Amino acid sequence: MNNCLIFTGNANRPLAEKICRFLGKQLGKIEVSRFNDGEISVKIEENVRGKDVFIIQSTCHPVNESIMELLVMLDAFRRASPKRITAVVPYYAYARQDRKDRPRVPITAKLVANLLVAAGAQRILTMDLHAPQIQGFFDIPVDHLFAAPVIINYLKSKNMKNPVIVAPDVGSVKMARAFAKRLSSRLAIVDKRRDGPDSVEATHLIGEVSGCEAIIVDDLISTGNTVIEATKVLLENNASKVFVSCTHPVLSNGAIEKLNRSGLSEIIITDTIPHNILPEKFTILSVAELLGEAIKRIHLETSVSSLFI
Ligand code: R5P
Repeated sequence: MNNCLIFTGNANRPLAEKICRFLGKQLGKIEVSRFNDGEISVKIEENVRGKDVFIIQSTCHPVNESIMELLVMLDAFRRASPKRITAVVPYYAYARQDRKDRPRVPITAKLVANLLVAAGAQRILTMDLHAPQIQGFFDIPVDHLFAAPVIINYLKSKNMKNPVIVAPDVGSVKMARAFAKRLSSRLAIVDKRRDGPDSVEATHLIGEVSGCEAIIVDDLISTGNTVIEATKVLLENNASKVFVSCTHPVLSNGAIEKLNRSGLSEIIITDTIPHNILPEKFTILSVAELLGEAIKRIHLETSVSSLFI
């Protein structure tokens, strides 16, 4: 792994450090700071000529700063003659606007893909894209990992009685079905209606949850409204306990307090997005080893596909 160098911006340094620990490597030397007016300043502090460079940067809060840092870092690297640059984006933001579902709206998932490639990314490693077809927004290789193996191992270790996996909306059904299959449990679906970007109403439940431990699975939690509405429906339908697991804890807009006060028994998240202090109900699982293993396999040019399960 000597020719493999790993760098990070400021978005999620703890995750980058964990990945490096798993790989037995030091983080590459780079200074990512700000000019007085807020512009981003980047200086790579070591030679990267001919190296296989991985830049770890979740595009999480502050989203626009994180994306811009990644773009400026990519530009710095492409001008320093590495052999290849892979952008490792554990959380890919702006992904929810992935199609023109109304007149005169942007497709930001495609815009971000264009920006990453224009800035110098030659390969992307990411996790649980909001819509898997975003891979096709790139004309460079994209390795799309799932956090499911990490979350499922944890759920198995809880030995739940009579679990049922719940999709909190129609968009999450595929993910929920994969979890249900691997946990040999049943599936239920909540019918969610969205009145605006941050306002949802869940009314109907498809499936039986009475007396079951219900586990809602989703790719991300932002305001928490989707999960909280689904939890109400599940408890009204006599679920004995409700858990939620999600890959990307965006947790915007007071979501932490709202989720903590809700009827949820546990909120299981991963570390694609960092959070300092969270209430006891939150369990953080690390995807560092999964990402580290993928980086190793990409660098050594061995198969990554066995990680895509
Ligand atoms: C929806 O399509 C997503 O999978 C999430 O359910 C949604 O984005 C979560 O948003 P919020 O937490 O704001 O309801």
